Amino acid sequence: MKYAKIIGTGSYLPERIMTNADWEKIVETSDEWIFSRTGIKERHVAAENQTTSDMIVEASKKAIEDANIDKDDIDLIIVGTITPDNAYPSTANWVQKKLGIKPIPSFDIGAACSGFLYGLTVANSMIKSGVAKTVLVAGAETMTKALNWKDRNTCVLFGDGAGVAILTATENKNEGILSTYWGADGNLGNLLMQPAGGSAMPASKETVEKNLHTVHMSGNEVFKHAVLRMQEAAMKSLELAGFSGEDVDLFIPHQANLRIINATIKRAKIPLEKTFINIENTANISAGTIPIALDQARKQSRIKKGDIVLLAAFGAGFTWGGITIKF
Ligand SMILES: CC(C)(COP(=O)(O)OP(=O)(O)OC[C@H]1O[C@@H](n2cnc3c(N)ncnc32)[C@H](O)[C@@H]1OP(=O)(O)O)[C@@H](O)C(=O)NCCC(=O)NCCS
Repeated sequence: MKYAKIIGTGSYLPERIMTNADWEKIVETSDEWIFSRTGIKERHVAAENQTTSDMIVEASKKAIEDANIDKDDIDLIIVGTITPDNAYPSTANWVQKKLGIKPIPSFDIGAACSGFLYGLTVANSMIKSGVAKTVLVAGAETMTKALNWKDRNTCVLFGDGAGVAILTATENKNEGILSTYWGADGNLGNLLMQPAGGSAMPASKETVEKNLHTVHMSGNEVFKHAVLRMQEAAMKSLELAGFSGEDVDLFIPHQANLRIINATIKRAKIPLEKTFINIENTANISAGTIPIALDQARKQSRIKKGDIVLLAAFGAGFTWGGITIKF
């Protein structure tokens, strides 16, 4: 029987930093409003010519080095993103080309903020079933290229970046991914979406003029569902692994809003000091959030061998997921 474990991580955040004060010059907002409502102070912004795959390549190089493998050991690439380089081919295919990896299966997952956890869940199944042995899973976004920079309700909430994890097969059932829990509810899809650019509303002069190629969100409604689903994802994943909140050494939640994180840890009984929070400096990077946080946590020595790490996310779709890992 095969199991999947993470053997390397890497992340990349673009050089340019935009603070709340920078947004004050563009829309009617304030550092006080943004920080008190969300916990965000600043975010990274991709350069004009920088694509989602460019950032994944930077993160991948670090993850491959960290995993101490040859890039040709990788036999599957999965990318979680809602801001792909193009509608097609997949961003995963551009990553394969740019890394110079042999022709292996590569595909994207469009599960928004849950994209990386969906990717880990698929990679786990592929490894367990023997279809793949070593998988590169990325979560990455250039959200700032998909925002309406005039809409204060959404533009201040997001940032850019990429994170990567390399998974490989192990025979040891007491390490690696212990449980996965995921779900989706398409009935609520219209509460957070990019309306134009697909078959429902192909690109036209009008869709561009009306800013329909950008994030449209009913913030308040999304907030309520996010709190409930994040709690569910975290607690169900722990339950499936035979644990409770007290067993968690580090919780890495999706970082959409500090108030959502606080509500989740209260319910799941996970102490704040065992929760990894970077929203202040990154904002919400959608699928990029958790793999970047995971890499930062490892680099800051907040994860030791044997630790139980819980990941939980919620995003557009709606989608959600929870994963419990033993490092
Ligand atoms: C978006 C969010 C931060 C808004 O916070 P909130 O406390 O719910 O605020 P509201 O939406 O009730 O808006 C309150 C007021 O602030 C205003 N406001 C919104 N954005 C603002 C900004 N950037 N600066 C100043 N004021 C702002 C609104 O216009 C509204 O004004 P009004 O009362 O005069 O109409 C919050 O709802 C949220 O985090 N939602 C979920 C986000 C999420 O999880 N997203 C994706 C899942 S991955």
